[in-house]
Amino acid sequence: MKHQGSIGVFDSGYGGLTVLKEIVKKLPQYNYVYLGDNARAPYGNRSFDTVYQYTQECVEWFFNHGCYLVILACNTASAKALRTIQQKFIAIQHPNKRVLGVIRPTTEIIGNYTLSNHIGILATNGTISSNSYPIEISKFFPNVIVHQQACPMWVPLIENNEHNSKGADFFVKEYINALDKQNPNIDTILLACTHYPLIINKIKEYTPIGTKIITQGEIVADSLMQYLHKHNELEKLCSKDFKQHFYTTDSIVEFDKYASLFYGEKISSKHCNLNSSIS
Ligand code: DGL
Repeated sequence: MKHQGSIGVFDSGYGGLTVLKEIVKKLPQYNYVYLGDNARAPYGNRSFDTVYQYTQECVEWFFNHGCYLVILACNTASAKALRTIQQKFIAIQHPNKRVLGVIRPTTEIIGNYTLSNHIGILATNGTISSNSYPIEISKFFPNVIVHQQACPMWVPLIENNEHNSKGADFFVKEYINALDKQNPNIDTILLACTHYPLIINKIKEYTPIGTKIITQGEIVADSLMQYLHKHNELEKLCSKDFKQHFYTTDSIVEFDKYASLFYGEKISSKHCNLNSSIS
């Protein structure tokens, strides 16, 4: 198979590249295959059933190309599809493979950042309405109070490269103010969408001074390192040639032009046809 033993990293579009970048920094020895479902992004406003169907198709594509381990570097997919994929798809059809998300590793440690015990979550409509963050954080940090704010305009602005425009400021300010109004004691804000690191400077401009803004890339990379350490049988199946390959379901010209903003270096992608299982 084309990418036998590569670790799959998935996002609805470009956002997961902010996570892959940190994973490669920490674990450069492995081979990685990135897939952005740009043709159907954003996922943020889509229903549970649609996000599940899209994500499951992409996971299947990774498996058909030789991956044993896939990271959903997308909060929306992690919130809306991961559990069903693990229970219905992996357990029954692929018991020797694993799919991991970004919510669990984040919620395991996010409570360590706050002194006031008030955390703000900024994410897509899908992630917020799933309530995954408050539910998971309460398991690890029962004293932490979670305040959530959906930011439905941010991913479309970022995916369309409009996030540095004046218009973008309006929406950044609007959602940050709405979160701040929920509770002025919030001292830690989690960017629970892998696209948002691209607007971190704008977000900082509108948040009260001293607020900690947390992104997920390093957290997920640390957690993957620990996971591979614990799961030796899976680690042994991971190929190690220091290579990364990039695929998109949409135009490779557009992807290559824009992906470097997220990844920090030039990318040369290939087109992915989800309907073809040929590897
Ligand atoms: N990067 C995805 C996330 O973390 C964006 C979701 C979308 O496509 O709206 O949620």
